Amino acid sequence: MTDFPQGFLWGSATAAHQVEGGNVNNDWWDWEHDPASGCVEPSGDAIDQRNRYAEDFALLASLGQNAHRISLEWSRIEPTEGKFSKAELAHYRRVITSLHDNGLTPFVTLQHFTLPRWFAQRGGWLGDGAVETFARYATRVAEELGDLMPWVGTINEPQILALCCYMSGSFPPGHKSNEEGIQATQVFLEANRAAYSAFKTVRPEAQVGPCLQMPPVHPSDPANEDDVNLTKFFHWLVSDAYLDDLRKGGGADFVGLQYYTKAAISAASASPLAPADPTKVETTLMGWAVTPEGFGEALRNAATAGLPVVVTENGIATSDDEQRMRYLRSHLAELAGAIDAGVDVRGYFHWSAFDNFEWAHGYRPTFGLIAVDREDDFRRTPHPSAYAYGEVCRTNDISALDRPVTGAR
Ligand code: BGC
Repeated sequence: MTDFPQGFLWGSATAAHQVEGGNVNNDWWDWEHDPASGCVEPSGDAIDQRNRYAEDFALLASLGQNAHRISLEWSRIEPTEGKFSKAELAHYRRVITSLHDNGLTPFVTLQHFTLPRWFAQRGGWLGDGAVETFARYATRVAEELGDLMPWVGTINEPQILALCCYMSGSFPPGHKSNEEGIQATQVFLEANRAAYSAFKTVRPEAQVGPCLQMPPVHPSDPANEDDVNLTKFFHWLVSDAYLDDLRKGGGADFVGLQYYTKAAISAASASPLAPADPTKVETTLMGWAVTPEGFGEALRNAATAGLPVVVTENGIATSDDEQRMRYLRSHLAELAGAIDAGVDVRGYFHWSAFDNFEWAHGYRPTFGLIAVDREDDFRRTPHPSAYAYGEVCRTNDISALDRPVTGAR
């Protein structure tokens, strides 16, 4: 049996725009309401966690989790450029205090996909002064809330931002330019370092790092030169650009790793993260292949940065909770295997705690351990997998997933 380290963080994750509701002052709100964006529906009230966080955190704690990952909504904290909202900072103080009160160690991400409207209008990450502006926000958060934040994520999935905001055009501002994706990658490296230094200057005791989705990528056809070359490019974009930078030191105390699926890269495919032939592999509601072995590979790859690893996201969109149980079993087995092989992993946050707003896909892909009925007063109902996972959290033993689920307690 794997010995998970003492104090291992066992929890689940969300992000502000996906759960809070009413985040009307950011670039995503505009994108969701733009008929040309391809978004299936707007976020609206999300799952109203803005008003329900205390009950939600009590529920997660009652299920056995000991940690929880949330993000701060930058557009609420700095609604106009350089003007910080005392009321919103006080709100997030109450939110993070509530995590502590429920015995959940907070992991707080500074920026998870959304940008304040004013920042987006100045050119977003590619605009002048983007890095300094983000660092100023990080400083303010550290000053006002940092005493409550033992674990801090700087930027969530800069790789996905480079890809979706600037290269495929599926996230705002909807650009389709490889050059911009490469330029943005350089900005993200600098922004991570700047936010890290800003936070650590105020709160040297905090553990700060980026949250990186680094899927293993392989050529769909190893004999096809185009596939091989594109794979090298994607490997740099999602993995080496960041790991090389972290190896130089200074931008992180840990690597936040997020894993969903590995990718077979085909130069002929419009969507490199989709399985090459969906009829031959198990897929999720996102159309992604279920590939647990890629998780072990991603963990070992992340460890080459020479830093501890925290799994800041891993999960499945499914309407079949049995499938979620299988996914948990196979992926936690990979996690245990990596720890047994010497990878220094400090925590695991399942994505997601609750069904929530899945960006351009709206509310159809259900990632939650806890279902949310938005038509019935946002009613929360934990799935059997939430109880089973809670037993893992309580016992530090993944074989709890093999025992019959006892249900609500
Ligand atoms: C993001 C989450 C998202 C999840 C599932 C990650 O890319 O950080 O916000 O909901 O994957 O798509």
